[in-house]
Amino acid sequence: MKNDPRRPGAAHAAGATSQSAGARHLDTPPTARELFEVRPVPDASAEDVAAVVPPDIDQEVVVRFRYPVRFTRRILDPANHTLRDAVGPAVPARVLVVIDQGVTDAHPTMVDDVFAYCAAHADALELAAEPLVVGGGEAIKNDHGAIDEVRAAIDTHAIDRHSYVVAVGGGAVLDAVGYAAATAHRGVRLIRVPSTVLAQDDSAVGVKNAINGFGKKNFIGTFAPPHAVLNDLDLLTTLSDRDWRSGISEAVKVALLKDAAFFAWIEANATQLRERSADAMARLVHRSAELHLIHIAASGDPFELGSARPLDFGHWAAHKLERLTRHDLRHGEAVAIGVALDCTYAGLTGRLDELGLRRAIAALEAVGLPVWHPALDAAGNSGRPAILDGLEEFREHLGGELTITLIDGVGSGVEVHEIDEDLMLEASARLRRHTEQGRGPAWSRTQARAR
Ligand SMILES: NC(=O)c1ccc[n+]([C@@H]2O[C@H](COP(=O)([O-])OP(=O)(O)OC[C@H]3O[C@@H](n4cnc5c(N)ncnc54)[C@H](O)[C@@H]3O)[C@@H](O)[C@H]2O)c1
Ligand SMILES: [Zn+2]
Repeated sequence: MKNDPRRPGAAHAAGATSQSAGARHLDTPPTARELFEVRPVPDASAEDVAAVVPPDIDQEVVVRFRYPVRFTRRILDPANHTLRDAVGPAVPARVLVVIDQGVTDAHPTMVDDVFAYCAAHADALELAAEPLVVGGGEAIKNDHGAIDEVRAAIDTHAIDRHSYVVAVGGGAVLDAVGYAAATAHRGVRLIRVPSTVLAQDDSAVGVKNAINGFGKKNFIGTFAPPHAVLNDLDLLTTLSDRDWRSGISEAVKVALLKDAAFFAWIEANATQLRERSADAMARLVHRSAELHLIHIAASGDPFELGSARPLDFGHWAAHKLERLTRHDLRHGEAVAIGVALDCTYAGLTGRLDELGLRRAIAALEAVGLPVWHPALDAAGNSGRPAILDGLEEFREHLGGELTITLIDGVGSGVEVHEIDEDLMLEASARLRRHTEQGRGPAWSRTQARAR
């Protein structure tokens, strides 16, 4: 034992069992006898006692998260119990409601509706204050003052860890309010009421929140599962055409990754989706949300400890494009372009066959989404196109080895760890020609090279 330089004298430590037995696992609690046994300190020299190192402990905590994701209509109609059922069992629950200004502009009665709903359900919901209206869109993720405003309201109105923040809004407001809620008191309960297609079919059902910082998208944030997600499909009716369509890209993305039948359904219903069929959108939102939820629950890496982020297909370019266009592009539009770019790249490398590539591009265009943007050609500091820096920024955000998700068929995601930058630029050039020439395949019938 004395030959172990890390643990001099460890054999004499009171409480130490045997060093060769290694660290004790905490899921085998010590017996009462072990706990309270008074052990005589062995006759040791002063030098040995000073060098005692107690045994290591391997800590393991298993935590299970469970949250409801509901689909409803007219959520603030007092006859609708979806919101009241999301709190409890201890009632009345104290709630602070924070609403995206884009929502209150489009639904001017919403603040009054919140008062009326809470009054009708006063036994379950205690409104802590008048609903707080915050600016909508990506600006809130760049304006850290808005985060402090939400935190100040949590403090002023005594929202504690058994109270609720109810956030109503697009993905940006939910990300920002979610971050404020997750960090106040180290986390107060958050009920998300997403109001855009993108938030309902993707961002709100997941476990992340973030704001932007240091010139980078989502640089500051936490992983924090919500208490509940309540999707009111009627909220979507007031979206601009851009916001209606942009969220469809996340559904196309997850269909291309995981569900060929869902992708075929999107192809068949592209016109209805583009022309704002509420029924088609309800189906799209539900299946897309479900696929995202299944991935989070079953991937084995809900908090993204690994280097892969399969749901972020197309996102390395999307995040860079959002910054390059100073958020002129919506996140969903940037995702459509990123997915088109990575599909074209996958085609050029021979991973994706030409039919798969054509179907992916055609589906994005059929629902009214862009597949290319001039910012893809923007020069970076080093003289090479700035978009390529998005690869390293994506790697750095996740940590570890570069891992980019591509597809090798419709419904089949695949991870790669190397990107041929020249070929990526070629993919962009082909999409540019395709876009500039209007409809028609600008990409070659022959793949550039097989690898
Ligand atoms: N946390 C995640 O896992 C995750 C995943 C994907 C995307 N996101 C984030 O989501 C954000 C994009 O979200 P988005 O696409 O919802 O855009 P958005 O939140 O920027 O909203 C777009 C616009 O629609 C307005 N609006 C919201 N609801 C409305 C309604 N019902 N009627 C009329 N106008 C309404 C907003 O005020 C805003 O002006 C990005 O910041 C992106 O990074 C987060
Ligand atoms: Zn996204």
